Amino acid sequence: MMLNLLGPFPLLLVLLGSWEPVHPLDDWAQSSVTVQTFMLRHLRPHPVNCQTAMPRVNLQNRRCKPENTFLHDSLNNVAATCLLRNITCRNGRTNCHRSRYRIRMTYCLYTGGTDRNCSYSTTPQNRFYVVACERRQRGFPPNRLLPVHLDKTPLLVH
Ligand SMILES: *[C@@H]1O[C@H](CO)[C@@H](O)[C@H](O)[C@H]1NC(C)=O
Ligand SMILES: *[C@@H]1O[C@H](CO)[C@@H](O)[C@H](O)[C@H]1NC(C)=O
Repeated sequence: MMLNLLGPFPLLLVLLGSWEPVHPLDDWAQSSVTVQTFMLRHLRPHPVNCQTAMPRVNLQNRRCKPENTFLHDSLNNVAATCLLRNITCRNGRTNCHRSRYRIRMTYCLYTGGTDRNCSYSTTPQNRFYVVACERRQRGFPPNRLLPVHLDKTPLLVH
């Protein structure tokens, strides 16, 4: 029944469903960038030690990510930032939004090691953040704007 409905396209759908390109650096202008990836990489409710928080991020990346920032806020609060006015992202797209306030975050910087034994320094910060947002995220209402990429964490806004 399902196959009949899909007609000649089931193979195409299977291919699309499994299309998971490896993104070099933060090449997030890809349909594969999702709110789930954002949460894994950038959301932790409380301050973290980078040495213990980064392995999960690197497992997905399959390498030592050179730097990474964890925001200590809820998905709901960050998603609310998606409703603030649009600004231009570093890559030139215009679906970025800057937080209204500074929040607590943890900045992790790679200091050495390889593969599964990457070492990081841990720096607590209190900054603004800029996120790129998208609709149509799996598991959420299709119209809901959700963060999919952390663009930068400015200390000051001008
Ligand atoms: C504003 O940002 C949202 C994503 O948060 C995007 O869907 C929308 O297209 C953007 N609007 C403009 C004019 O770029
Ligand atoms: C991981 O790296 C640390 C220091 O960078 C080193 O002391 C330790 O032996 C390494 N562990 C493994 C399993 O390679």
